[in-house]
Amino acid sequence: METIIEAATDVAQLTDEELVAEIQRLKRALNAVILAHYYQYSEIQELADFVGDSLELSRKAQQTDADTIVFCGVHFMAETAKILNPTKRVLLPDLAAGCSLADSAPADEFRRVLEQLRAEYPGLVAITYINCSAEVKALSDIICTSSNAERIIRSVPENVPILFSPDRNLGAYLQRKTGRKMLLWNGTCIVHQSFSIRRIEEQLAEHPDAELIAHPECEDAILSRAHFIGSTSALLRYTIESPRTTFIVATEPGIIHQMEKASPHKRFIAALPEKEGCRCSECPYMKLNTLEKLYLCMLRGEPEVRLDPELIERARRPLERMLELSR
Ligand code: 13P
Ligand code: SF4
Repeated sequence: METIIEAATDVAQLTDEELVAEIQRLKRALNAVILAHYYQYSEIQELADFVGDSLELSRKAQQTDADTIVFCGVHFMAETAKILNPTKRVLLPDLAAGCSLADSAPADEFRRVLEQLRAEYPGLVAITYINCSAEVKALSDIICTSSNAERIIRSVPENVPILFSPDRNLGAYLQRKTGRKMLLWNGTCIVHQSFSIRRIEEQLAEHPDAELIAHPECEDAILSRAHFIGSTSALLRYTIESPRTTFIVATEPGIIHQMEKASPHKRFIAALPEKEGCRCSECPYMKLNTLEKLYLCMLRGEPEVRLDPELIERARRPLERMLELSR
């Protein structure tokens, strides 16, 4: 479908309210759906049709009947949407919105290491976190997210060796949780790696009633001190259900927007990184998407996520296995 849409006026002249109105107008004209991750700026979360964690966003992308999926998140998430619903046009406001975890497992290196390990450990199963490229997905046996990883690991028979990639913190956490020994890829998330247990201890001392809640991409020093560990959606749910009223949140602070919306009477404090004044706990990739870029990508139909159909076919199998196992 070819849609010609006139630009409202010069983008730089538009106020945020006008940009939002233009985005809504384009959404109707394109029959588009806007999906956003919790780490997006709050103004983007506010105008999205759906805000969720990686698993929920994958499901929404797979099920939508819109013609265009506008993905406000990072590249691997938009790629996943394309893989799961390849006839749709998938737009991403900024193609440079990458992920340090995805970068830590380049496809060539992953293929080489996997070949070596398969020779050494016959029957090895490669379980790969969704934060990876389409090519790495295609090389893997099953994909997982932080919300279903435990269930997926438990689905693999005890005597079968597992390579868990690319997040070593999530992998180590899952080993402790399931008691299952796995081979771990040595990747990390620059955001979750930046939190400092020393400064979090200071925050806990300052707020003795507060509970520490953490994403499993954090280091063990933080996880072993946390009152609750979970995916972004699980953290949000926990703050809604818990009788506590103060939380120190050890994940990207974008999610605090939804926490405050859901529990306006509660207090949410962003966990601190080691370096004072550093904004390193904000994901620099997620934050590349702005209202202005969202508007421009819908207006121009670019940047679009395009993937080779053969790669889509190969990457879809391990993703569908994940969805089957997490029903
Ligand atoms: P969730 O699936 O928990 O939303 O995590 C995505 C992510 O990139 C965390 O850094
Ligand atoms: Fe990747 Fe970390 Fe950003 Fe999540 S927060 S998208 S894991 S760099």
